[in-house]
Amino acid sequence: MNQTEQTSVNTSPSSEQPLEDRVNNRSQRPSSDAFRTFMAANWAPSTAGLPARDAVADHAARRRRAISAQFPGERLVIPAGPLKVRSNDCDYRFRPHSAFAHLTGLGVDHEPDAVLVMDPVAEGAGDDGGNHLATLYFRPMAGRDTKEFYADARSGEFWIGARPTLPEFEAKLGLPTADLTGLEVAVTKNVGEPSVGGISIRLVRKVDENIDALVDTARYNTAKDPDSMDFSALDDLDGKLTEALSELRLVKDDWEIEQMKVAVAATVNGFEDIVKALPRAVAHKRGERVVEGAFFARAREEGNELGYDTIAAGGNNATVLHWNRNTGTVDAGELLLVDAGVEAESLYTADITRTIPVNGTFSDVQRKIYQAVLDAADAAFAVAVPGRKFREVHAAAMEVLADRLAAWGLLPVSAEEALSPEGQQHRRWMPHGTSHHLGLDVHDCAQARAEMYVDGIITEGMVFTIEPGLYFKEEDLAIPAEYRGIGVRIEDDILITANGPVNLSAALPRTPQDVEAWMAGLSK
Ligand code: GLY
Ligand code: MN
Ligand code: MN
Repeated sequence: MNQTEQTSVNTSPSSEQPLEDRVNNRSQRPSSDAFRTFMAANWAPSTAGLPARDAVADHAARRRRAISAQFPGERLVIPAGPLKVRSNDCDYRFRPHSAFAHLTGLGVDHEPDAVLVMDPVAEGAGDDGGNHLATLYFRPMAGRDTKEFYADARSGEFWIGARPTLPEFEAKLGLPTADLTGLEVAVTKNVGEPSVGGISIRLVRKVDENIDALVDTARYNTAKDPDSMDFSALDDLDGKLTEALSELRLVKDDWEIEQMKVAVAATVNGFEDIVKALPRAVAHKRGERVVEGAFFARAREEGNELGYDTIAAGGNNATVLHWNRNTGTVDAGELLLVDAGVEAESLYTADITRTIPVNGTFSDVQRKIYQAVLDAADAAFAVAVPGRKFREVHAAAMEVLADRLAAWGLLPVSAEEALSPEGQQHRRWMPHGTSHHLGLDVHDCAQARAEMYVDGIITEGMVFTIEPGLYFKEEDLAIPAEYRGIGVRIEDDILITANGPVNLSAALPRTPQDVEAWMAGLSK
């Protein structure tokens, strides 16, 4: 339905009407006082009462306390981000920025334009003995006596349903809340050069351009010498907060680990749906879309959404790493690579790949390639233990793949030479990394420093993928014809514990025999 439905009542020549007003040209919304008075009256009061405090609230408080410790004396501004237009007056479904979700505990569609402000206080005098007092600013639902109620298609209750009130979010999150109208003062008050007693701000930039402008204007207006302000230094200042928030997510707390399990369980169900949908996919001229659709239905039924666009790649399309056009066929005799993840209501996502034989049985060459990838994954699992370096996981997988490619006679040099930094010829068929952190973002913690990420030490509580692959393109003249058009990736989601890696996605079969048995069981 369109917010400005039906025919024009505006009679002024279009040349005199500003463009921004024309959105109402088709509106027949009543505007009489009688309508407004009648619309505002006779609504039963809500009997729902305040929500209980969410289980995540204590975890979110600990996360805020950890970030507070790193930035004493500075105001921290973390926006959720605005609604984004998809086309004309239709928006994308809202998803808050992950740093905001992490620090507030908010998931699903909460809350466009909201901003978490952590205001500095004397050291130790803040929340939980920290250095800041946090307040969540957002636009609470307006009453039924307002125009928003019936006339605002983006936030009105008549259009999109009830939204939270200030007391509701305060009760749910255990966090003081305030109306967005107070944000400007909250962000800009006492801003200035720390050398003369002003407060300096750190902002998670590029989430909400209105907040970027608000903060930068406040900085400019209070700078000692505004005209020589160094904006790249501001990027560094703000970047440090983004980096710290990214690194804060490298080790998951117990609540986050539970959410990862929820996301993985729904994803496992989605993969079963795909196998059941295979006959329809094979019969359809865009069978890959049938596969994508089957998974998407599960993602919406059990979770919030997809964590990323599903890759449903039949045959040679599996050799395109991020094939998500999904316009191809699904043909018996070929492999189907599916890389998909359900994002839970909490916004944590799984990221799983299985490569399955469309007709239920691997051919000899498919099995041989599949087994090499599986062996690489198992070698990576073996070093995914606390105390080892993150980059060793990739190295272990590469060693297996280089050896296997050499044994098949595909490498122009020995496996040893290929594995050296000067070689790397094996990467022609596996050009991506083997692992990435996983959580609120599919590629989680992406702004962490290298010494914390690829050069970091594997630590209990980390969740990351292990996802080696081999991709032999149809047009690859460096390999015999029998390999061409086959792409295999096996991707699992790993939780690091004191006792080593736990494969969270182990409910999906990995060995060729288990994959075949699983498919046979589901197609009975
Ligand atoms: N699905 C994207 C990835 O595996 O990294
Ligand atoms: Mn991945
Ligand atoms: Mn993936």
